Formats: sequence, C-alpha cells, structure tokens
Amino acid sequence: MHIHDLPTPALIVDRKRLKDNLERMAQMAEAAGVKLRPHIKTHKSPFIAHWQQKLGADGITVATIDEAEVMAYNGISDIFMAYPVAERHRAERLARLGRLAAVSAGVDSKTGVSILAEAADKYHTRVGVLIEVDTGLMRSGLASPSEVIELAATISQSPNLELKGLFTHAGHAHGEHAEGRQTVGRQEGEITVAVANALRAAGFAVSEVSTGSTPSAAIVAQVPGVTEIRPGTYAFNDGSLATSGVASWEQCALSVLATVISNPVPDRFILDSGSKSLASDKQRGMPGFGTIKGETAKSISWLNEEHGVIQGSFPDLSIGDKVEVIPNHACTAVNLFDEYYLVEDGIVLARMPVAARGHRHLI
Ligand SMILES: Cc1ncc(COP(=O)(O)O)c(C=O)c1O
Repeated sequence: MHIHDLPTPALIVDRKRLKDNLERMAQMAEAAGVKLRPHIKTHKSPFIAHWQQKLGADGITVATIDEAEVMAYNGISDIFMAYPVAERHRAERLARLGRLAAVSAGVDSKTGVSILAEAADKYHTRVGVLIEVDTGLMRSGLASPSEVIELAATISQSPNLELKGLFTHAGHAHGEHAEGRQTVGRQEGEITVAVANALRAAGFAVSEVSTGSTPSAAIVAQVPGVTEIRPGTYAFNDGSLATSGVASWEQCALSVLATVISNPVPDRFILDSGSKSLASDKQRGMPGFGTIKGETAKSISWLNEEHGVIQGSFPDLSIGDKVEVIPNHACTAVNLFDEYYLVEDGIVLARMPVAARGHRHLI
C-alpha cells in the first residue's frame, strides 16, 4: 500500500530515518563510553524499544508506570522510571514489576523512599533507586548536596532498596541554540557529577550518574563521571529540534499524514489534522504548530481540534492533496494515536501499536 492510500490523519514513521537516528545515537554513546538508556516516552513502542536494545542500549527509561508495565509485558528486562515516586499506586505496581524485570525508580523525598520501601517489602522485590538532582530545570529534584546525602542515608536503611546513584533532566536545553546547549549540557553533567562525588565522600557507593536528553546528550556524554545518557526524542526528532539545530529536517522520522479538506479563500488551506493529531504544543522558538515535510515555508498557523490552518498562497496545494506534517513535539503527537504506520520510500511496511500511550492503569 502507498502512504497516500492511507486514511488521514495517520501517524507515519519513516523507517530509514528512524534507523539512522537510532544508530547515530548508539554510536555516539559507544564512542563516548557511556551507557545509553533511551527514554521510550517518545515512541511508546516495544518494537522500537527492542531495536534500541539490539543496537546496544542498556535498558530503557519510562515516565509512567503504564509505560513500564507495557514494556515489561513485552519483554524489556531493565526499566528505570525517571519520575519521582511519591504515592502508593505507582510504587506498588513498580515493585510488583520487579518480578518480571530489573526495575528502578527516581525519588526526591523521604515520603517517596518510605512508600517505595514498603512496596518492595510487600512484593519481596528489590528496587533500584536514583535520587533526582535539579540541575537548573527547576522541576522535580533536589538542588542541595546535603539533602541528597540525607536522602541517601534514608534509602540505605531499607534492605529492599538499592541506591544506584543520581539522575537529572535538563529539559531547558530544548529550544537553546548551539552555545546555550553547551552551557546547559555542561552544567547538567558537572553539577550531577559534583553531587555524586559529595555522596561518595559521605560514604555511599554511586554507580550511576544518569543525565542527558536529545539536545544535551552529546555534550554530557563528554563530561567525566557521567555514566549514562537518557535521550528519547532522538528516535524521531521533531520541528523543535530541527529549528534549534539539534537535528536537520531530513532527520525527522515522524509525521502526521493529513488531507487538505478546504480552501475557502485563496490564501487559506485547511488540513484534517488539528490539535487532536498534532497536539497544541507551540514549543520555544516555533512559529506555528507543525511544518510540512520538505517545505518549511508551509507551516500550521493555528489549530482547532480537527482543523489545521495553513495561511498563505500556495498554487501547488489543492483540496484532496495529502501532505505530511512534522509535529513541533514528537512525543505529544505520538501519544494522540493508537497506531503508527512504518513507511519506507512511500510504501507502508507495517501498522504498529502505540502500545504504551495514555494512562490506562493496567492491573
Ligand atoms: C526525566 C527525563 N529523562 C529523559 C528525557 C528525554 O529527553 P528528550 O526527549 O529531550 O530526549 C526526558 C524528557 O522529557 C525526561 O523527562
């Protein structure tokens, strides 16, 4: 089947571009001597997660317990939930998953540690723990080394918890251009390594110093002491990464196939892909809500749920045409679809489930 025979809107993954993206990051990590633990929140696909493992990744990262369960049930054997555990539901499901896979979780509070310890005790499993360090994003995570040491002491009192080390996410590297990324990436690595050294000096073993997103991965991988990187979006890339120069437009593997369904005035074209297929993320530095593949002059100016509006006079566009829109933010667009089509040279190779999307509370 040709891609243009698909019903729209449809989520498209270009197999060759995906393969190149996966291989490039795996090679970079190997050359830098750091482990790669890809964040699967971007693709939510066990098929791609296994591909990443075959290329040398050491386990995966997830954000939600649903993602962790779907990946474990599909045979992924080493899962880190890089999200602060602080309530019983997530903690118990993760601890129970410890029977199927090696599991670890992020914490940044004593409440989280005690809930996780109780859950691991209840299910007789051993859960790895990484303390989250805030390296400037100002989201979750502790900024003070003394608080990290205090939390490590609490963790060490629980026989079913194993302190593995520290993790951080410098999400503010997104939207930064080359120079800003260098600054954010170096800080991300250097601050986390400094806290790890303070923890070691206080007598704790620290085996993992886990950092690095798509924009900062290549930078933090060069910081001595960093052991692991956790990029996710690199699998697909997106408009935001292409605009800030982290990737090229030709390295964007994900698109939403859409049909032009209206052209009521000469300079306005309406696509059948609105916020329910592209997401309404504008992203830092982005002019619109998505960009037409191969034609960066055409972008989605505004969205309603089922309408994506391209403003401008484009004699090459007509009602019925199919176009591919590269989303600003790959992860949120993927989360809106149940399935994606794997495509090569315009031919549909497979229809794959976006198996770990949404919050489904599998039990
Ligand atoms: C904790 C954590 N680690 C890693 C990542 C991966 O970052 P990116 O998708 O920019 O590669 C994210 C993304 O949100 C994250 O929240």
